[in-house]
Amino acid sequence: MTDALLVDTDTDTEPADARRTAAATWWRQAAVYQIYPRSFADADGDGLGDLPGIRSRVDYLADLGIDAVWLSPFYPSALADGGYDVADYRDVDPRLGTLEDFDELIAALHERGIRVIVDIVPNHTSDLHEWFQEALAAGRGSSARDRYVFREGKGASGEEPPTDWESVFGGPAWERVEDGQWYFHNFATEQPDLNWDHPEVREDFLKTLRFWSDRGVDGFRIDVAHMLTKDLTEPLPSRAELELMPQDGTHPLLDRDDVHEVYAEWRRVFEEYDPPRTAVAEAWVGSPERRAKYASAEGLGQAFNFDLLEADFDAAEFRTVITDNLAQAAGTGSSTTWVLSNHDVTRHATRYGLPPLAGRPVKQGTEWVAAGGPEGDIDRDRGLRRARAATLLLLGLPGSTYLYQGEELGLQEVAAITAEQRQDPAFFRGGEYDGLGRDGCRVPLPWSADRPAFGFGGAVAHLPQPAWFAEYAVDVEAADPNSTLSLYREALRLRRLLQTEERLEWIETGRPDVVRFVRPNGWQVLTNFGTEPFPLEAEHDAVVLGSLQAGAVPGESTVWTMPDVLSE
Ligand code: NOJ
Repeated sequence: MTDALLVDTDTDTEPADARRTAAATWWRQAAVYQIYPRSFADADGDGLGDLPGIRSRVDYLADLGIDAVWLSPFYPSALADGGYDVADYRDVDPRLGTLEDFDELIAALHERGIRVIVDIVPNHTSDLHEWFQEALAAGRGSSARDRYVFREGKGASGEEPPTDWESVFGGPAWERVEDGQWYFHNFATEQPDLNWDHPEVREDFLKTLRFWSDRGVDGFRIDVAHMLTKDLTEPLPSRAELELMPQDGTHPLLDRDDVHEVYAEWRRVFEEYDPPRTAVAEAWVGSPERRAKYASAEGLGQAFNFDLLEADFDAAEFRTVITDNLAQAAGTGSSTTWVLSNHDVTRHATRYGLPPLAGRPVKQGTEWVAAGGPEGDIDRDRGLRRARAATLLLLGLPGSTYLYQGEELGLQEVAAITAEQRQDPAFFRGGEYDGLGRDGCRVPLPWSADRPAFGFGGAVAHLPQPAWFAEYAVDVEAADPNSTLSLYREALRLRRLLQTEERLEWIETGRPDVVRFVRPNGWQVLTNFGTEPFPLEAEHDAVVLGSLQAGAVPGESTVWTMPDVLSE
């Protein structure tokens, strides 16, 4: 393999400058692995994953071949929404460890060349946050209350909520407090929305960004980045009126133009560091143009593209999404992101084993609703076959890829969790997310087939692991060269070697169910979305990796090929 062919070089650039540029742009084509800390590994055996648990698996992460980890919230929290109800933004939940544990973890990851992204949750705090407790105690008209969104109710004695708005998780978006006022919460009752017009709110988040940046964090994932600023001028619109309002930057609650003033300020903080800190917006907005604003270099720099996560396993859909998103990234100067699974949706190995998404409910308001389904309806073999094909396609694309813990095992969604065992507020507040909520993708990982709690930690994990988890255990898959874990490891290893400029060209295949593209260095990706095998021309196509083992390209599979000179 010839290095010169693989390195994306600018020959006029001094090596030191090139190094600086590489350090500042590491995120552009990174493979980022999302860790949901409470469900990754449990070092103290209390049933809840923790930071020392993650530290004990750093070798696993390094062997996997990822470039960065994104840690979902590990901050003090009552877990009313899996940690997205943050009680203190600048500390570690004592059940998950200490700040020293965090420092040790980040040092261990950096030592292995793995960068670290942490989650920032700026739209709402936990109701246990000292600000909210202060707001409750301080009463009406106080500055403490003004850090949140408090309003008087309607009706003779204010006994009705200010509006009929619904929370994203279902149920009313207003909660009454003891003295009769109401506060607004886009999500669970325990997640009061902050008022981003309050200068202390803005100041405090700058402090939080510096706090973690000073500790060596490389970047941030911004939770519901499109929701922070609001126009709550009276009279407030009704829910029906709200739904009819265009999301063009002027909507009272969503994707307002003025939210970018916040991110311009954050950008100035990111640029105080060398290399600059990065950020990726979780922004559920109406159009690629609206999304581009979050990805601008003056703002957060990158925004999640969830289009493939919302697509069926379908050649035409994939091709359109890929083409559109690459054009959009080229327009903003950002790089796009690819995602098939995360902690909010049904795992893609299961999703692809269900009937097509089309015709099934997939969205509620602006939030993704996972496509679950009765376990009996799932064709797991097919789901896994397609998941491996889709992932291999994804990892060949220009841009960064976000992988969710457990997908490297081909892990399936767990549906068999009783109501008593469930934790997701979306399940309890109206049965959205297909009536099952999001716990099924948050079940603690199986590390060893034969150990209690499959080697997660203590005797029992905080969400129930089904017996079939044994088949997916890391120790089982690590010993099997054909396992999904082995496929991910090999794909990530090769991806590093093959990575090239952020471009692709489509190659026509003559089949509507087969897509094929080539990257500037000759690396080709061919995915057969159909069921009929697709023949390869052996003299041109040296297969370097395939999601299924076979001569041609079987149905529901992907192969990577390279011209001979590069595949030696
Ligand atoms: C998006 C997060 O991904 C999700 O898990 C959470 O429930 C909501 N934002 C509220 O923070």
